[in-house]
Amino acid sequence: VKTIGVLTSGGDAPGMNAAIRAVVRTGIAKGLNVKGIMRGYAGLLKEEIVDMDSRSVSDIIQRGGTILYTARCAEFRTEEGQKLGAEICRKHGIDGIVVIGGDGSFNGACKLANLGINTIGLPGTIDQDIACTDYTIGFDTAINTAMEAIDKVRDTSTSHERCSIIEVMGRSAGYIALWCGVANGAENILLPEYYDGDEQALINQIIENRKKGKKHHLIINAEGVGHSASMAKRIEAATGIETRATILGHMQRGGSPTCLDRYYASMMGARAVDLLCEGASNRVVALRDGKFVDYDINEALAMKKTISPYEYEVSKMLSR
Ligand code: F6P
Repeated sequence: VKTIGVLTSGGDAPGMNAAIRAVVRTGIAKGLNVKGIMRGYAGLLKEEIVDMDSRSVSDIIQRGGTILYTARCAEFRTEEGQKLGAEICRKHGIDGIVVIGGDGSFNGACKLANLGINTIGLPGTIDQDIACTDYTIGFDTAINTAMEAIDKVRDTSTSHERCSIIEVMGRSAGYIALWCGVANGAENILLPEYYDGDEQALINQIIENRKKGKKHHLIINAEGVGHSASMAKRIEAATGIETRATILGHMQRGGSPTCLDRYYASMMGARAVDLLCEGASNRVVALRDGKFVDYDINEALAMKKTISPYEYEVSKMLSR
């Protein structure tokens, strides 16, 4: 491997810049040329490819977002798009690519690998929903950002003795909701993995808690459950308690990455380059039981993970 490329794809996540920096600087330290591919696979197809040096990744480790920009690309899901992508890599002398993104991005990486371009995936998403790894780049920052925001909503909710439903991101996974629900001391945590839609039970609990003297009722609702605004209206009508819905939205994806995200993203970025130098392809770097490991992308994509029933039970017990 002489020349490698790096791209970010799908939703951005804090810590992606730390990963890009690690790929560039590890690559250069190992005598490789490193190219930045702008705007994910969309930029690859448009040949938006720039030379990177150590200085092009200066002053970015503390910044949220991704300096390479990101995109979701429909054309790259087609066979023609993938073939064109591989041809463009060859034209630019790129024989290895590090793809930072989620499962969708790894699918694309797998296709490029089948077409002879060595690829390594790095798990980058705030959702923590990549089955092969215990950790994804951006999750730690996102839960801390959401936690701080929820604390603020809680202050006003308590002052007004209201019920608050706060919706957090996570696509169809409930990791952000679970972690914030526990860390923010929520009365209820609605997870797509477990919520059975029994709104009457929720309403009964709100009424009971009020009788017990609780001043507010905080519900953390995962995006995968959704419908926070209409739920708030129904709860208010049924309980007589003023209820507000707050959807935290994209603020959860921004901001300066935490130390943990910067550190793990740096280690994973270096590991990706090591793997390319060893001639590996179609692998994804993961953190399992505290160790950095790597998996075949097809195997990784076939894996399933879910929130442990024990952790869910504890979260319910602590909210009483
Ligand atoms: O995957 C990250 C994520 O923020 C999800 O939590 C959310 O469902 C989705 O991306 C939102 O995507 P977009 O930025 O395209 O609205």
